[in-house]
Amino acid sequence: MRNVILDCDPGHDDAISIIIAASNVSDLNILGITTVAGNVEVEKNTINTLKICELLELDVPVVQGARRPLVKASEIAPEIHGETGMDGPVLADPKMQVTEGHAVDFIIDQVMNSSEPVTLVPTGPLTNIAMALIKEPRIIENIDEIVLMGGGTFGNWTPAAEFNIFVDAEAAKVVYDSSVPVTMFGLDVTHQVIATKDIIERTAKIDNKIAVFVKELLIFFGETYKNHFGFNGGPIHDACTTMYLLKPELFQTEYLNVTVETKGEYSYGMTVIDTLSVTGREPNTNVALGVNTDEFWTLFEEILKSFDGGQ
Ligand code: BDR
Ligand code: CA
Repeated sequence: MRNVILDCDPGHDDAISIIIAASNVSDLNILGITTVAGNVEVEKNTINTLKICELLELDVPVVQGARRPLVKASEIAPEIHGETGMDGPVLADPKMQVTEGHAVDFIIDQVMNSSEPVTLVPTGPLTNIAMALIKEPRIIENIDEIVLMGGGTFGNWTPAAEFNIFVDAEAAKVVYDSSVPVTMFGLDVTHQVIATKDIIERTAKIDNKIAVFVKELLIFFGETYKNHFGFNGGPIHDACTTMYLLKPELFQTEYLNVTVETKGEYSYGMTVIDTLSVTGREPNTNVALGVNTDEFWTLFEEILKSFDGGQ
């Protein structure tokens, strides 16, 4: 079983990523879920995480993390995820309590004390991960991979920058330059997994409470993506990370050098991907560029069906 820490800002697609990791076809060992300021304020992201865990009957520590990026002020995206950060489905206020302490310390403790390597799975801004790497650099030795959603060869927040990287580009630079192997799911690949009407209909045919929740997430997310970007559905960006952990062969990756622009007037927050190896810098990132979409959605259905008969 692979040990993972999910670091996130749920978020419709973050929620789906958690569901995939917690499903009955997953062999991931979730050590905990940490939250970060991103789609909305960290407190709201934490409440959403507790709601998701309660729905899943997933008993893992949920630890709140950074309230704001390392250097600049917070930037949030309620126009994509709604005021609560997870608008659409209505879930009761959670009874489950947040675990005391800070996400950064939780990540450090878990990684330092795990007998097996830990995989970090960030699907929001990289503030917590960067802070953990800065506070305790020895964690590098026991992190086998950082599997993240962020970046790409184009942007969705600025022409050059994807939201997660743009919100905390300084943190992203710390992560990419850290020497920990990174596998990156940027917009090039995540825009290939759009939950169209057809996918929503396939989801609606699955009769359990998790699939109903996912269907409601996809409907809301699809609407905002239609209104905001003119898409025919919401790309379930963050879900690529945990889908990859369940079935890496779904994706095509290239091993390339990636760093992050933190100074550019128009390019702040861009992931600079050396596709043609023009810099001479050593490759440091598995960049996911392609996905077998048919197999992706087939596995997605299988995952949702795995909740039939309760948890
Ligand atoms: C990323 O930004 C957020 O809106 C999503 O949850 C995803 O992590 C996509 O750019
Ligand atoms: Ca996210």
